[in-house]
Amino acid sequence: MKLLQRIWISAAVAMGADAPVTFNKDVLPVLQANCQVCHRPGEVAPMSLMTYAEARPYARAMKNAVVTGKMPPWFADKNVGHFKNDKTLSADAVRVLSAWADAGAPEGNGKDKPAARAFNSGWNIKPDVVVEMPKPFELPAKGTINYKFVVVKTNFDRDMWVSAAEMRAGNTEVLHHGKVWVRPPGSQWLSKAVYGEAYEVETQRDIIGRNAGEEGNDILGKFNPGLGPQYFDSEGAAKFIPKGSDLVFELHYTTNGKNPTSDASKVGFVLAKNPPKTRYYFNPGPTALNLAIPARDGNAEVVSEITVQQDMKLVYAQPHMHVRGKDFELRLIYPTGEMQSVLKGKWDFEWQMGYEFEKPIVMPKGTRMVAISHFDNSANNRFNPDPAAKVIWGPQNWDEMSNVFIGVTFDVNIDPNVVFGRSGPSNLPRGDSGPTLSALQLK
Ligand code: HEC
Repeated sequence: MKLLQRIWISAAVAMGADAPVTFNKDVLPVLQANCQVCHRPGEVAPMSLMTYAEARPYARAMKNAVVTGKMPPWFADKNVGHFKNDKTLSADAVRVLSAWADAGAPEGNGKDKPAARAFNSGWNIKPDVVVEMPKPFELPAKGTINYKFVVVKTNFDRDMWVSAAEMRAGNTEVLHHGKVWVRPPGSQWLSKAVYGEAYEVETQRDIIGRNAGEEGNDILGKFNPGLGPQYFDSEGAAKFIPKGSDLVFELHYTTNGKNPTSDASKVGFVLAKNPPKTRYYFNPGPTALNLAIPARDGNAEVVSEITVQQDMKLVYAQPHMHVRGKDFELRLIYPTGEMQSVLKGKWDFEWQMGYEFEKPIVMPKGTRMVAISHFDNSANNRFNPDPAAKVIWGPQNWDEMSNVFIGVTFDVNIDPNVVFGRSGPSNLPRGDSGPTLSALQLK
């Protein structure tokens, strides 16, 4: 009898008869923990999910989005690697959102409501220093806008070590993505640009930041929808800004097609409490400047490689492709010949996600970093602007790119100029396709 009763009670709880799932008690905590970072005013998501009134109309859509795994966005293969910033919802949270929609989205008792989650007035970090573009960039209503570079004179009067940074779009409607570079004194990069004025660089080499990369200039902060702030304090590391550096805003704008508008983006950063022993350094990583994707190929493979020239640790990876991208993988080939896949996933152009390794990955000098990506250049890819085109490397969305931006840490005394060397497939001349895995030299 007792047993039967217990079975009855647990069934009733499971069905929500005893304690119906309500917004205030069950749903709001899930939204606060997992969704509001994007779903609040001024953020990347199209609607706010801060209150019952805001969330109520989306009850069904939220259920669908979390049951299908569309939300929160996360694309890494569960079987490869572990990531600090893994946003995958727990099974419990999925159940809560589903049960709430199925129960007709009740609000529940106001007393059950947790305090509103506090966000720092627009910032996800608490910046010690904020640098904004000195004047807004004016966009026309229509047309394509080439990459713009705005060099900002900062008058930083001392060396700084930075533990976190966040780039914020002034106008998320038109800033597709952006970066803020550190240009140390003496750098020749963008030497013709006038401070504060939007500048277009002459060559593709400049556009992808290779000049900057080769000079050892570092990226301070990046903006992509969904990327959030960047943290550099892995095992006490920090990012270096030498005294007298300029900051360079690299901006990729898309017009809104409706009316002229403007954008003044900014970057904020948090200073490290103590001078670090290891430096956090950001780099374009393995890059396939020589890529070629044949017309109509539904599964074109592209492989690129760099070799690390100093002992270091890999802490972060952010694959990058355009609208034909399908999937990505980052493999390490250690000096011993042992090969390890550290990140793998599906590509979605709308989401330029970065992946923070749960544990820094040791890469001894001589380790090769290999990026493998696949592209769908067939008519089946609904984003494909032209399946008849052979596609090569280029900055616009109808061109392609294949690289994996990386965050690494190494001894502060090492010159970042000498930490990476292009190798293997990345040194081949451009062919009709590839380069593919067949170009990889394995011992
Ligand atoms: C990293 C930012 C981010 C996070 C975190 C996030 N969303 Fe979203 N969400 C977006 C953006 C941007 C869109 C619009 C683009 C799209 O639909 O892909 C969106 C769209 C949606 C939609 C509309 C989907 C559709 O099919 O049209 C729903 C519903 C939704 N989100 C619910 C959620 C819920 C619930 C959570 C938390 C469990 C969540 N989101 C977490 C950014 C985010």
